[in-house]
Amino acid sequence: MTPPWDAAGSDAPLRTPFTSLVGVRHPLVQTGMGWVSGPRLVSATAEAGALGILGSATMTLPQLRDAVREVKSRTEAPFGVNLRADAGDAADRVRLLIDEGVRVASFALAPSRELIGQLKDAGVVVLPSVGAVRHARKVAEWGADAVLVQGGEGGGHTGQVATSVLLPQVVDAVPVPVVGAGGFHDGRGLAAALCYGAAGVAMGTRFLLTRESTVPEAVKARYLAAQVTDVTVTTKVDGLPHRMLRSEMVAALESAGRAATLLRAVRHAAAFKKHSGLSWAAMLRDGRALRHGKQLSLGQLLLAASTPMLLKAAMVEGRTEAGVMAAGQVAGVIDDLPSVAEVVERTVDQAARLLREPAVGGPPTAV
Ligand SMILES: Cc1cc2nc3c(=O)[nH]c(=O)nc-3n(C[C@H](O)[C@H](O)[C@H](O)COP(=O)(O)O)c2cc1C
Repeated sequence: MTPPWDAAGSDAPLRTPFTSLVGVRHPLVQTGMGWVSGPRLVSATAEAGALGILGSATMTLPQLRDAVREVKSRTEAPFGVNLRADAGDAADRVRLLIDEGVRVASFALAPSRELIGQLKDAGVVVLPSVGAVRHARKVAEWGADAVLVQGGEGGGHTGQVATSVLLPQVVDAVPVPVVGAGGFHDGRGLAAALCYGAAGVAMGTRFLLTRESTVPEAVKARYLAAQVTDVTVTTKVDGLPHRMLRSEMVAALESAGRAATLLRAVRHAAAFKKHSGLSWAAMLRDGRALRHGKQLSLGQLLLAASTPMLLKAAMVEGRTEAGVMAAGQVAGVIDDLPSVAEVVERTVDQAARLLREPAVGGPPTAV
């Protein structure tokens, strides 16, 4: 079998079907993270030869247009935009991506067959994120060009199955390039993912902890100080499993009663309404979509607005006591703040070296 990487005859040490599909130098993705993946981080990633993805779930449509144009003014390299497929204005955002010539559309939830078709017709690469084999099969059947599969170690909304189990399962299930996410931070992870049959890896927490990331320094310090056991999963922010740093706020959310939770939901919903300019009806529709149409109380629907507002308090305003800090388990093993270029270079170099000549303690060689 031909290995998925190809070191021969190229100055890019790890070419894969994903690098060819997207037109990037390295099989590495900086994921779309709300309030975190802005133009500065994304353009630095693009310039370093990896795929940077703007997080647009927390941007209004005009803010997204400005952010896309800012990235384009900083780099000519390809980049992507992460969207909520279920957002009320998803069609407008897709139009914007097409009009602005964005290379990759990344989706937090599976996009519809129609949206995939529209993007593909316009030559945009469609890269939905999935957390289960059946979702990977579905989007691949609908024409997605590649899938990003996130295992349970990953930061933000997450599932239960570990990357080491889920990634090879998805690789076996779909005929398109697969990008692994959740738990990656160095070249050993990239090499391992390529050995599982992935065509690249995506990292969120690792790129959040870089010099170009605009997250306030005091917040970065909380991540750097965290041990693996300081990263937890809670459903108390918006009812869905959400991986984040254990903090005073998480403890407060976990112990809050129904009345306090409802009050918070109303407060956050009002704040998000102001930020987004959405009507109450549009916000409730988005909240219902986030919960996949389950029967939900008004309080639960309002809670859907809590995630962006709680993330903003920490990621933008630096108020760790008032916000939540979404994080992958890797926050517990990352203890430095390199530049984006350093992250990309050392990850790719280490992976290429390991695949060429496995380190001591690496796979046994046949005798
Ligand atoms: C602060 C933060 C915000 C995130 N926001 C989003 C988002 O808006 N959309 C999305 O699809 N995924 C989001 N995620 C998930 C990441 O894109 C990515 O899949 C995950 O961080 C990968 O796991 P890792 O942190 O172990 O690398 C977020 C993750 C973090 C840590």
